[in-house]
Amino acid sequence: MKVEKPGRRGFLRAGVTAALGTAAIPFAMPTRAWPISTAQEQAATAAGTAARIKIDFDRKIGVIDRNIYGNFTEHLGRCIYGGIYDEGSPLSDSDGFRKDVLEAARGMHVSVLRWPGGNFSSGYNWKDGIGPKDARPRRWDTAWQEEESNRFGTDEFIEYCRKLGAEPYICVNMGTGTMQDAADWVEYCNATTNTYWANQRRKNGHADPYNVKYWALGNEVYGSWQAGHKDAADYAADALEFGKMMRWIDPSIKLVACGGPGVEWNLPVLEKLADIVDYISLHHYGGSTDNAKEFQDARNFEKQIGVLDAVITAAMSRSRKKERVAIAVDEWNIWFRSWFHRGDNHMLEEVYNLRDALWVASGLNAFHRHCQTVKLADMAQLVNVIAPIMANATGIVLQTTYYPLKLYTDYCGDIALDALVRSDTFPGAPDVPYLDVSATTDKTNGKLTLAVVNRHPTDAVSADIVIEGFNPQASGDLYEINGASLDATNTFANPNQVTAKHRSFSGAGRNFRQTFAAHSVSVMTLRG
Ligand code: AHR
Repeated sequence: MKVEKPGRRGFLRAGVTAALGTAAIPFAMPTRAWPISTAQEQAATAAGTAARIKIDFDRKIGVIDRNIYGNFTEHLGRCIYGGIYDEGSPLSDSDGFRKDVLEAARGMHVSVLRWPGGNFSSGYNWKDGIGPKDARPRRWDTAWQEEESNRFGTDEFIEYCRKLGAEPYICVNMGTGTMQDAADWVEYCNATTNTYWANQRRKNGHADPYNVKYWALGNEVYGSWQAGHKDAADYAADALEFGKMMRWIDPSIKLVACGGPGVEWNLPVLEKLADIVDYISLHHYGGSTDNAKEFQDARNFEKQIGVLDAVITAAMSRSRKKERVAIAVDEWNIWFRSWFHRGDNHMLEEVYNLRDALWVASGLNAFHRHCQTVKLADMAQLVNVIAPIMANATGIVLQTTYYPLKLYTDYCGDIALDALVRSDTFPGAPDVPYLDVSATTDKTNGKLTLAVVNRHPTDAVSADIVIEGFNPQASGDLYEINGASLDATNTFANPNQVTAKHRSFSGAGRNFRQTFAAHSVSVMTLRG
């Protein structure tokens, strides 16, 4: 059975301070890029090769919150069952968790893990998913038209987060659920009181509280595809009461308001909720088989962040709260090939190509550039369902999109620098440069990591790199993600068409030239 979700895609497309410690880091505008301008540069560009990247260590944007490297697991298709959790599989540990999937997930240093949905959360009764597994009720999940065994519930999710080393992030049911259910869930997870739900947790073998810090107030409540969808005013009124009740159980929790597709939703929601929420969510799904369109979409994603940031500024101007609401991009990915086929046996099992890996790297660069406002992000999703990891009964394959998530978490620094980039742009797309760059350093200015995405489909780009305020050593390490073409994919039959390869470079300095291969992501680290 294939049921298309009506109108949702158009809806999504329609809309699109850090704690810096004591040493203040000067504010700088986020990284800019513009077309080549001088005659000499234009001549070089005619050959399709020239660009300029300028870094000034005085121009720091802010601290990058590691929570931007989060991920998402939903009860959907084979993400939980047959993905992270596979009871009885020889590849699973004694708790039922797939060891190969877990190890690959650890490789991406997943900082925060969102669960149980997504659309699933709007019909989920968390109380079905605790206690002895064989006694848990099987339910019909209306969101994805699947049977839910409830064998994976809150305790299993927390256990998985602990094994992964990720902070749990729970999305409460604001569709069919009540504010009492949400408050009870906080009590089950976090309370130390001698009260019913905290005692249920103890009875289930967990004496210590889970201290779940991040809680989302509903998922995509603006959309007609969501159980119990509402308009902005109704949502904001309900979310205020849900949040209040949840905070009355645990005042320390961080709350995420449900952001929507545009200003019409986000402004009234924030005007009502700015005083109680810490974040507002943003979802973005994009992608195309056309290069210019795919990277225009990456650009639009970044604009969507800028628009929401402006709405936050407007709403905060009317709030007395000092701490600014941040953006939680708690679902983002390429998703257009396997668009919502309900009841399909291979739900949302998107096969990614090199182009998509370049899009993911561009998205991470955008988060770096907007680190003052984007403080949490979750790639959707972790395994099998629009995921960087695919699993079957015998093993896993790392999709192309796995590699930027791995390299950025391995090598990028925690402080974003404002890189000035001059690059030619895609024909007819003056705001979409071939080179997309983020520059990061660490708190001691000990290194400079350049993450350079060359989105040119056929040509290498030679960039003049100029650095001020930092003296790099001549040699360093470079990891390059690449493959034969932008359409290259990794499959079980051919798992290594796109990988990250290491090489050393030499000849670096305060002014040097570096060539970036066609259709590649390069993460190069220069040490001082
Ligand atoms: O990630 C897949 C789905 O996309 C989620 O369930 C929903 O929130 C979004 O529409």
